[in-house]
Amino acid sequence: MLQIWDVNWFLDEAQCPCDVHFVEWTASEQLRDARIFHFGTGGHHIIGLANMEQGAPNTILGITASPQEFDDFVKLAIEKPTLSRDYQVFFGDIYLLNARMLPRIDVATLFHLCEFRGDSQDAYGGLTDKQVVETLLEVMPAGGRIMLYSGSFAYDKAAKVAEELVAEGRIVAKGDFKTLRIFEKA
Ligand SMILES: C[S@@+](CC[C@H](N)C(=O)[O-])C[C@H]1O[C@@H](n2cnc3c(N)ncnc32)[C@H](O)[C@@H]1O
Repeated sequence: MLQIWDVNWFLDEAQCPCDVHFVEWTASEQLRDARIFHFGTGGHHIIGLANMEQGAPNTILGITASPQEFDDFVKLAIEKPTLSRDYQVFFGDIYLLNARMLPRIDVATLFHLCEFRGDSQDAYGGLTDKQVVETLLEVMPAGGRIMLYSGSFAYDKAAKVAEELVAEGRIVAKGDFKTLRIFEKA
């Protein structure tokens, strides 16, 4: 069985501000024409909705492993016809990410890296957390951004993955924005 996430996560800025901080970061950077990959949409879909409300400066592909969050995306896409032009969500396990199915990605939000990899994914050959990052680096131009969330309960593990990739010369640390840690593809 696929490892799903049987929860519908509502916006909880106090507990998990990463998506709100990301929306603030895109505004502060005046990010335009970027192709964003968003790991873990939440049922609130705030990153896609905020992009739509700002006139869709960027395009976003989100992944959720929650059937309920995916259903909420379908409802929103029906209610707000322009949403799905610039924000799409697919259902699946991030550990089955396949570079051949991805467009070019300029920014990847890996806020929940290392949070959801368990033994169950070994049964179907799931990627490791490092391989998830490497898959995204495959479709990212030099200068593309990988973003982590320092408030994640698995941040120590995610930071180790990033440290390895920095040591291998594949990404470079580029500072912070609030709770977000920013790396650039070398
Ligand atoms: C705690 S919620 C956070 C949602 C949102 N980023 C936020 O901060 O409000 C975790 C998110 O990760 C997603 N998720 C959990 N396991 C996953 C997996 N194996 N593959 C893809 N997404 C997964 C869930 O569907 C959910 O959207």
